[in-house]
Amino acid sequence: YQLKDITLPSNAVWHKSTVCPDDRAMLMAQAPRCIWLTGLSGSGKSTVANALDATLHANGVKAFLLDGDNVRHGLNKDLGMTEADRAENIRRVGEVAKLMVESGLVVICAFISPYKRDRQMVRSMFKPGQFVEVYLDTPLATCEQRDPKGLYKKARAGVIKQFTGISDPYEQPESAELQLNTTDISVSQSVEAILNVL
Ligand code: PPS
Repeated sequence: YQLKDITLPSNAVWHKSTVCPDDRAMLMAQAPRCIWLTGLSGSGKSTVANALDATLHANGVKAFLLDGDNVRHGLNKDLGMTEADRAENIRRVGEVAKLMVESGLVVICAFISPYKRDRQMVRSMFKPGQFVEVYLDTPLATCEQRDPKGLYKKARAGVIKQFTGISDPYEQPESAELQLNTTDISVSQSVEAILNVL
């Protein structure tokens, strides 16, 4: 597929900041991280991400949540669900998360991010150890049974095309830092498991 035209203006020059990311992290008194939740629609990404965000916030950690549905209302509202648009979605989110991590924040990203290549590309933007991939491997049957937005029903009826897991691929992560099946565990157990990895 073709990525959208994102060529750099030929006369753009990189300006080095006097204050470096480590200085900012020290001032924030925390270790910046990008916690990346990937999984099918209905796997629990938004629920777990939101609970993790609330827990971190309650404990004085400066965190921020980037959620697929929300980001697609603003920054990425020009993107659809084709393979190229999903790649561009993830690339932009990765760049935003990187800026946030450089500013000292713990960034939680909840995106289906179905392609290995795109997740790998985002991982490569961060220093080793800064990117924590959490694979919510809740089975399709459970996600479809939950169907909180009625999207699976529409996908099965052919109303929504290219629906992940039904008519579009999801490439499973092989080396995520954490794998969680949310079928039989509570939201707080998922949050605890992520905090343990951090
Ligand atoms: S991606 O694949 O990472 O670019 O997707 P993402 O930005 O996370 O957006 C996923 C949400 O978009 C809604 N939606 C769809 N999902 C999958 N396939 C198709 N075709 C589709 N169309 C709309 C859906 O609400 C997804 O949210 P979640 O929270 O995953 O259910």
